[in-house]
Amino acid sequence: MLQNARIMVTGGCGFIGSNFILHLLDRYQSCRVVNLDKLTYASNPANLRDVEGDPRYQFQQGDICDVDIVKQLMANVDVVFNFAAETHVDRSLMEAGSFILTDVLGTHVLLDAARSHPNVRRFVQVSTDEVYGEMPPGVYAKETDPLHPRSPYAASKAGGDAQCIAFFESYGLPVIITRAANNIGPRQHVEKLVPLFVTSALRDQPLPLYGDGRQVRDWLYVDDHCRALDLVAREGQSGEIYNIGADNHEENIRVAEAILRLVEKPLSLIRYVEDRKGHDRRYAVDSSKLRALGWLPQHDFLSALEGTVRWYSESRWWWEPIYAGPFRDYYERQYGQRLASGVPYEAKGGASA
Ligand code: DAU
Repeated sequence: MLQNARIMVTGGCGFIGSNFILHLLDRYQSCRVVNLDKLTYASNPANLRDVEGDPRYQFQQGDICDVDIVKQLMANVDVVFNFAAETHVDRSLMEAGSFILTDVLGTHVLLDAARSHPNVRRFVQVSTDEVYGEMPPGVYAKETDPLHPRSPYAASKAGGDAQCIAFFESYGLPVIITRAANNIGPRQHVEKLVPLFVTSALRDQPLPLYGDGRQVRDWLYVDDHCRALDLVAREGQSGEIYNIGADNHEENIRVAEAILRLVEKPLSLIRYVEDRKGHDRRYAVDSSKLRALGWLPQHDFLSALEGTVRWYSESRWWWEPIYAGPFRDYYERQYGQRLASGVPYEAKGGASA
């Protein structure tokens, strides 16, 4: 399926997309990859600098909402992986229009082009566990569960998923949806929790922990995610959904403490700040359907975190320019007031809390 395939990866200059392209080119000697990326704030062409001269790799700057570019590329590919998305919950709470455009309309444009090109034999929609909404303690979302997205971001991804299902049911398009947990690893934009906390700690800046810090996420190493996507594209069934979770469930406060220990900085850098609106308490998925295909994560929480921390510690060239650019304004808007009125770690009882 992938060895001699012509593969379109959308959003390939972003975090997961770039890791996936490197995975494909490493694993499949005869594949060809075209990367359609809009180059938003979250993309970085340097993510793929190691493969720039590779004859199997082609970069096309463009938007998945652009019907002409999408149709043109779709004529020459066998497999599509759609990573292109606006992904940050906090930004979706500030402005959701761009999320609807890329995550809903963009997905529609891709699906519509794919259905008129019978050469496309697999369409993988890279979605998220957030579409299920928050899970009570002890409950794990199954692929058959109803969707209950609670943030504008999650709602936009649910809209994309719904269209994928509609295109499978209506036209028989060979679509597969994957719903992954929180990814960590090299090249993730510093707006997300783990890279924000790692780079803040390395800069001796406070770590802004929302609410009581007891929210739970499942921390999936990006390489494990890439292996899962590779597997479902080859072995999965069209029209099916596959959850991708590592069972590395940790509270945010424990993540913050583990990061500070790894970079040998004081726990007093943690600052409790005003909570995210509608903050989902816990995400958790049941990924037994994927595991039945033969997938197992290779990284537990600590090894995933260590790999991530090592990369950011060694890659200041990659993330320091982000802090010097437009991210500064976002940071001020998102955290300025929050940090000014934040509560120190010690005031909440510290590590024993
Ligand atoms: O679950 C998969 C999803 O994981 C992906 O679909 C999303 O694209 C991705 O952004 C991520 O969503 P989260 O909202 O879980 O990730 P984020 O890194 O923004 O936040 C993780 C947790 O940390 C969440 O409980 C909010 C909290 N947090 C986050 C930030 C940025 C803080 O306490 N402080 C922060 O500054």
